[in-house]
Amino acid sequence: MSTSTPLPSEHQATLIDGKAFAASMRQQIREDVLAFHEQHGVTPGLAVILVGNDPASEVYVKNKAIQTHHAGMRSFMHMLPETTSEAELLTLIERLNKDPEIHGILVQLPLPKGLDARRVTNAILPEKDVDGLGEVNAGRLAVDLPGIVPCTPLGCLFLLRDQLGDMKGLHAVVIGASNLVGKPMALLLLAEGCTVSIAHIHTRDTAALAREADILVVATGCRELVKGSWIKPGATVIDVGITRTQTESGKSRLVGDVAFDEAAKVAGRITPVPGGVGPMTIACLLKNTLTAAQMQIEGKTE
Ligand code: GUN
Repeated sequence: MSTSTPLPSEHQATLIDGKAFAASMRQQIREDVLAFHEQHGVTPGLAVILVGNDPASEVYVKNKAIQTHHAGMRSFMHMLPETTSEAELLTLIERLNKDPEIHGILVQLPLPKGLDARRVTNAILPEKDVDGLGEVNAGRLAVDLPGIVPCTPLGCLFLLRDQLGDMKGLHAVVIGASNLVGKPMALLLLAEGCTVSIAHIHTRDTAALAREADILVVATGCRELVKGSWIKPGATVIDVGITRTQTESGKSRLVGDVAFDEAAKVAGRITPVPGGVGPMTIACLLKNTLTAAQMQIEGKTE
């Protein structure tokens, strides 16, 4: 697939337009939500819980609510104070689990100190766990059973399938081994037939491993960690990182985990930041909410 021949110095990778892809996904979801409503008289409902006042999380959850409405679904926001106890949060989740108007539940992470994210996430019924982060959905993914797949790696997979089609036999390297992105991403690529390597904080020579990748997915939260010299010529690079940074003129700017300008001179295809993976995450959350409603109403599995 990818070549190891050096590329001409004027080479520029093709941009993977996640913004446009996500917009067309949202349009399709909107149509599917209408059809679902016509067939069953049910509008899918998504409950989002935010505990505390983390400014970035507040922006994310407001965006999720807006996009949920745009997709023709119902949005239920629960903004809880920082002082919320775990017992109070679990009581709310139990109530939402039983509520027939709610098909998806998401607890925005990170949670304030003192709240156990694992216990809270696992309290969500697996069929309403639209983040796919509970142990049941994580386990289903690990053994190739149908379930709900975490939104960000699912978005990356859709972009990769669109760009590359059949990925069988390609070497995929995932940098970052989080439960939220790295691990599910690796399992999804394995299911596509890729040979998969995962690099993490203890990996001896991540740069050398990355240079072997036909597909490189980077989800570390370390801004511009991956240099142009880490990339195999012609590789497909998916940058999951988003860090807000100040330019010299004092303006705020978003940067990824990949040093974009250098990387674009070597890669075959690359996602920009912003406008790459970011918009796909919410589109996939909407897709997962519709899937959850279909599973609950039609008994359908993905
Ligand atoms: N915080 C950052 N990304 C995510 C996500 O995908 N889901 C949840 N629940 N919280 C997040």
